[in-house]
Amino acid sequence: MLRKEQNDLLTQTGPGTPGGALFRSYWMPALLADELPANDCPPVRVKLLSERLLAFRDSKGRYGLIDEFCAHRGVSLWFGRNEECGLRCPYHGWKYDVTGQCMEVPSEPEESGFAKKIKLKSYPLVEKGGVLWTYMGDPAKQPPHPEWEFATVPDDQRFVSKRIQESNWLQAMEGGIDSSHVSFLHRGDLNNDPLFKGAKGNQYNMNDSRPVFEVVESPGGLYIGARRNAENGHYYWRITQWVMPSFTMIAPRGNHSVHGHFWIPIDDENCWTWSFDYHPIRELADAEVAAMREGKGVHVATIPGTYRSVANKDNDYLMDRQAQKEGRSYSGVAGFGMQDASVQESMGPIVDRTKENLVSTDNGIIMARHRLLRAAKALADKGITPPGVDPAHQNIRSVAIVLPPDVPYKEGAKDVLVAKPGVAPATV
Ligand code: FES
Ligand SMILES: [Fe+2]
Repeated sequence: MLRKEQNDLLTQTGPGTPGGALFRSYWMPALLADELPANDCPPVRVKLLSERLLAFRDSKGRYGLIDEFCAHRGVSLWFGRNEECGLRCPYHGWKYDVTGQCMEVPSEPEESGFAKKIKLKSYPLVEKGGVLWTYMGDPAKQPPHPEWEFATVPDDQRFVSKRIQESNWLQAMEGGIDSSHVSFLHRGDLNNDPLFKGAKGNQYNMNDSRPVFEVVESPGGLYIGARRNAENGHYYWRITQWVMPSFTMIAPRGNHSVHGHFWIPIDDENCWTWSFDYHPIRELADAEVAAMREGKGVHVATIPGTYRSVANKDNDYLMDRQAQKEGRSYSGVAGFGMQDASVQESMGPIVDRTKENLVSTDNGIIMARHRLLRAAKALADKGITPPGVDPAHQNIRSVAIVLPPDVPYKEGAKDVLVAKPGVAPATV
């Protein structure tokens, strides 16, 4: 349970809010690189942290993320002409470069220097791992570029997708660190989904539906360990990583690719769910990528030309009551991603955390909220850089491992919780 002011602090991320300042400390995924596929291609509207922005790629391939609206009289620059190293407003021809600097005001004499005095708000936009990342904070405090392993492996070892989620970011993220729902909401799908089935670890999952959770602070966030019984008194541990503010990496299964998410606020009532899959040491097979495109695993099928899911709030997520009744599907909604989205959106745009009744399996969520609150306060009061900004905190892996009963997972899995290029992941 949170007090109202705590809930507000964590769920409000617009300009000038403490929660917004926290998000503005990090490089965040803003667009898929495919959304700006060529020099001088059409610009793309993107709303992040309640700010309406426009992304474009100029004639020299430089990326920019600038205020969506023209400084003259507020026309959306989405209607602009992307030409000769700048974006030109179609109304009266004012032109801007990727930094938001006005290059030309055609109606004014050039010698007046008027254009030089006009600059739109802008943020850096850099490509890494098929994703365009932005940093919306104080330029003087800009951290090094992101180092998540999925973004550093060769392109053929990775797949990334995104979708709009119609809820606040925090309740979406809380689903990502709440491993206990897997035994209910997603029951059955572990054995059917091509991106999960066949792993030995799935048997441990199925045979023990009362996992014991052990949550431990990590340098950038939390290790969320779920312990189940294995053979000969040993334990099967699934260790999910959460790195502040909203990165998760779910424990792997067999030789399948590993996956995880980012949840990035669009505004306080909507967020981007980013989903990635990668394998640290092998290419993804064509069949795997095809399944991901179809919406298997953690990905979802979206309406062509949009990032809205095919199953959504307006069609009751294509709920199949018959499948629910017959036990073919526990939730009645198809696919991991939509099962998560349907329950999280059903809470309303911003869930009222003053009314919750938390239990021991919510420990990860409780600890994550405390870390976020602490970090937001330390940043607001003392300017302290929050955990997860340092690229070393991003150099992590999730783990599935069998350990003897007397070995704490933090010790037993110490070496494999860190990403090492070219080294196989620890997985069962
Ligand atoms: S509104 Fe953009 S040039 Fe006039
Ligand atoms: Fe889930």
